Amino acid sequence: MAQEVIFRMGIPVLDETRREIGRLEKLVFFETEKKITEIVIRELSCLRRIPVERIRSIETHELLLTGQVNPDEFPVFDPDQFEELPTWFFPSGYRIEVGSVVTLKPSDIRIFGETEAYTRREFMAKSTAVVATLIGISLVVPIGGYILAAVKTKVSDHWINLPMRLDQLPLDSPVTQTFSTVSVSGWMRVPIEKTVWLIRHSGDTDPDSVAADVSIGLDSALEKKFVDPRLTAFSPICPHLGCAPQWFRDQKQFICPCHHSVYEITGKVVSGPAPRPLDTFPVRIAPDGIISIIYEQFSIGIPKKVRLA
Ligand code: FES
Repeated sequence: MAQEVIFRMGIPVLDETRREIGRLEKLVFFETEKKITEIVIRELSCLRRIPVERIRSIETHELLLTGQVNPDEFPVFDPDQFEELPTWFFPSGYRIEVGSVVTLKPSDIRIFGETEAYTRREFMAKSTAVVATLIGISLVVPIGGYILAAVKTKVSDHWINLPMRLDQLPLDSPVTQTFSTVSVSGWMRVPIEKTVWLIRHSGDTDPDSVAADVSIGLDSALEKKFVDPRLTAFSPICPHLGCAPQWFRDQKQFICPCHHSVYEITGKVVSGPAPRPLDTFPVRIAPDGIISIIYEQFSIGIPKKVRLA
């Protein structure tokens, strides 16, 4: 392995007569040639650039140049033409203090006759583009997978037994029932609590036993199949914009607090912006009275009852 070259800033720079002509201040690195091409010395109040070919030896305590040196023969270092080079860009094999290496600004490269196009700025631009692309891919893959998984997930007709029997419900008076279930979205399964409005009817003869969305034909085949004149199960979600309507016993109406949609006990819209009646769920009542529902989620803000989950 090649020996490491150590440039220590501030050491004296001597010519071959051992006359000190200045102190080492910076190194100039030409990116296109990938090498140090000049040293910058501080001579009195002036900085000057001396080609590396003039270096005879580099010690830890001094830097020796060849021949007798008249500093005036070397160009003055113009800081406006250079910019600091990050250490990560610097090749291995050199030990150089942070902040001591400079390189020509891209706009000055032409002045100095370099023609190669691959400058550090371009390198950084390309690196940034590559990193951005990798980040993009790393985001697109899981997000795309998530969306695809969600799209491909079939809505589940999963029957949920409620902790409630029919005979425990009051007649003609809506009550909310909370239950635990699992939300499945793509690959995610999250335990959640849900609620449903339950209304027990006296049976076929009860005019309120047919929910409004059933009577106007909004239901799917599944919902049509599982209706029971003894029980209505309403979604707790307002079909307008998704708030939670509440039952007001005195008015005998569901009223949504958000935009004041008002519904009859059958779910029919009395007033307000709701585009359709309250949504019903499929219900089943076991011989022992245990109530089961399929908890569905529907689109909001449109007259059609479109199942989403
Ligand atoms: S969300 Fe219920 S009325 Fe608007």
